[in-house]
Amino acid sequence: MNHDDLRTRILADHAHLDRTFESLDATLRAARDSESTDYLDDVTEDLSFALGEMLEHFGVEEEAIFQQIRDAVPALSDRVDGLESAHEVLCNKTSRLRKLVAAAKSGFQPLDIEVCLDLIAETKRLIHTHNRQEVEVFLSALDSMNDTDRTRLLDDLDRL
Ligand SMILES: [Fe+2]
Ligand SMILES: [Fe+2]
Repeated sequence: MNHDDLRTRILADHAHLDRTFESLDATLRAARDSESTDYLDDVTEDLSFALGEMLEHFGVEEEAIFQQIRDAVPALSDRVDGLESAHEVLCNKTSRLRKLVAAAKSGFQPLDIEVCLDLIAETKRLIHTHNRQEVEVFLSALDSMNDTDRTRLLDDLDRL
């Protein structure tokens, strides 16, 4: 598989996260003009889905892929650490959103939609930056590896 195909494939593995945050953004924008709070159910569902996706996808990356890259190509270790930190930031932002929505659902505090839209916009930007950086690290790692390590990494990328 050449670089362009690999890049396309790795980016496709991130597409459902992009879509979920687009959907959250659209739901909250529509909710600004609505009196009803029914939208909170959709938002809760999207946020649970996003967190589940993150935990599963980031889990495979951190447990299998990142360590393999650090071992096989130590020169990429710092960049891999940066990818791992970005996972933490993304999970924290998403958890914060979920807490705000949960507080609104339980009647504890009305949802500040503008705060949520800002958080979503920031998370979307971080996801795009992370995806781009991650693809570059994976491609550099594949380029620098021997055939055995490369086959193993490609197998693990298939699990994403
Ligand atoms: Fe990823
Ligand atoms: Fe990642």
